[in-house]
Amino acid sequence: MFTNQQAMQRLDEILQKQKQRVAAMRTQGDFIDYNTLSPLIIGVCGGDGIGPVITKVSEDVLRFLLQEDIAAGKVQLRTIDGLTIENRIAEGAAIPKDVLAALKECHVILKGPTTTPDASYTGPNIESANVAMRRELDLFANMRPVKVPEEGIDWTFFRENTEGSYAVGSLGFEAEDGISVDFTITTTEGTRRIARLAFEYAKTNGKTRVAVVTKANVIKETDGKFLRIANEIAQEYPGITAESWYADIMTAKLVDEKRRREFEVMLLPNLYGDIITDEAAEFQGGVGTAGSANIGKRYAMFEAIHGSAPRMVAEGRDMYADPCSMLRASVMLLRHIGRADAAGRLEAALDKCMFTEKKLAVTGRPTGATSAAFGQYVLDTIAAG
Ligand code: IPM
Ligand code: MG
Repeated sequence: MFTNQQAMQRLDEILQKQKQRVAAMRTQGDFIDYNTLSPLIIGVCGGDGIGPVITKVSEDVLRFLLQEDIAAGKVQLRTIDGLTIENRIAEGAAIPKDVLAALKECHVILKGPTTTPDASYTGPNIESANVAMRRELDLFANMRPVKVPEEGIDWTFFRENTEGSYAVGSLGFEAEDGISVDFTITTTEGTRRIARLAFEYAKTNGKTRVAVVTKANVIKETDGKFLRIANEIAQEYPGITAESWYADIMTAKLVDEKRRREFEVMLLPNLYGDIITDEAAEFQGGVGTAGSANIGKRYAMFEAIHGSAPRMVAEGRDMYADPCSMLRASVMLLRHIGRADAAGRLEAALDKCMFTEKKLAVTGRPTGATSAAFGQYVLDTIAAG
């Protein structure tokens, strides 16, 4: 229970930290050039719950596709153990120290889902490992593609990944008289960089519309800034229209079969991006089919968009988890490090295994294939193609 004075102190601490962040953003250099790295180090973290099972499938596929680069010493795949909920609780840290140090030695990371204790957990407040990693490695852009070609859906979401209600999500407090307070942060600098990336993507990929999704009609300061800055950046891209959408009606329009086809690139603050991308993934076959790229200037991390599915593990079904989300994330990883050819091979094999040939189906239960069997099917398809 915070007194007013403690509350003011907390706000002061938050502002100090955010000022340091803004200063760091202002002096940050350009994106890393993967061509100059040898070896390029890919860290692989299994995570919790179904994480180790589905991550293993992607690791095998990456080893296969990158075998020449690995043999030539140009690429190194490095297993990073210890990013588990047990270790996090034991250390009382969102990411154990040695794990964070090991992650920072890599250039890109493939990460399985991690478990976050929810409000019913009574131990010390532990932040989500995901959220902490995005902040520690400054992975400011969360890019999530969703495609359903036969329904004309081809969406790319750019979710701001280090600000909004997530920036200081663990620093809320309860004040006297049962008043709970959380914080949400939007910075000019942080909005500019994510907006630029979304418009740049639109330009490079021949898209002409960027939907900016906020609730600027209600959340006036932070969402208002997000929308205003996005509109400013849009001025630098004459061929591209920035369309302002409020998150409620935009979410509704995603279920409107005719209207939803018109969306191309979406630019969203952190929380709306979190919610709407789960909804969007559902049209593609569920969150188990969707990958996510967390991109920063120095590091990038690739993962599933879903969590660690503790219920599946409790029911003994983890080996039936769908590995496709991590495999889609691996396509993005390969493309990001300039291995477009390997990315294309994996993507083509996935489209075949998931949509056209469908010799095996994963259902999450013994009625379907195991994660490992589906992984082998994808590997065989790549090898045959
Ligand atoms: C996601 C996840 C995370 C988030 C959780 C696991 C903290 O839902 O990557 O979308 O809310 O960002
Ligand atoms: Mg989510």
